[in-house]
Amino acid sequence: MPRVIDGDYAPVVAALRALLAGEHDFDANVANFVALAYHALPEINWLGFYWLRQGELVVGTFQGKPACTRIAMGKGVCGTAALRRAPLIVEDVLAFAGHIACDPASRSEIVIPVLAGERLLGVLDVDSPRPGRFDARDQAGLSTMLEVLLASSPIP
Ligand code: SME
Repeated sequence: MPRVIDGDYAPVVAALRALLAGEHDFDANVANFVALAYHALPEINWLGFYWLRQGELVVGTFQGKPACTRIAMGKGVCGTAALRRAPLIVEDVLAFAGHIACDPASRSEIVIPVLAGERLLGVLDVDSPRPGRFDARDQAGLSTMLEVLLASSPIP
């Protein structure tokens, strides 16, 4: 199982391409994306998707402790990133007004909107127990992984 070491996502992106190659079921590819990413990233305690359903973010495939099911657009880190349609890195979730604490162990967070062209599908959310865990390398690496996922199968 490849790991992200010193912010280098290349081996994990390559492993994801191989894992999804030839499979065109979106849900199956999401499940394997989450499993691979969860075990590849050091120092994280939650990783998964919230999908936009009827104007609300609804939890999808994830690994980690059970999480809040629904997040309104504009609420929490996820809803803020979704509304802005821009990635959001929060160094200290305790200092982020409106942060939604699903797992009290979470101390920092990165959220990346999942966009198919102009269409917002949802967000990828990753939590860490270490403040300041995420940086621009995580944003770039996770964005590349999302591109691989979206290219792998027709989007429902
Ligand atoms: N902390 C997120 C909620 C989702 S959990 O971290 C899994 C937020 O503030 O949007």
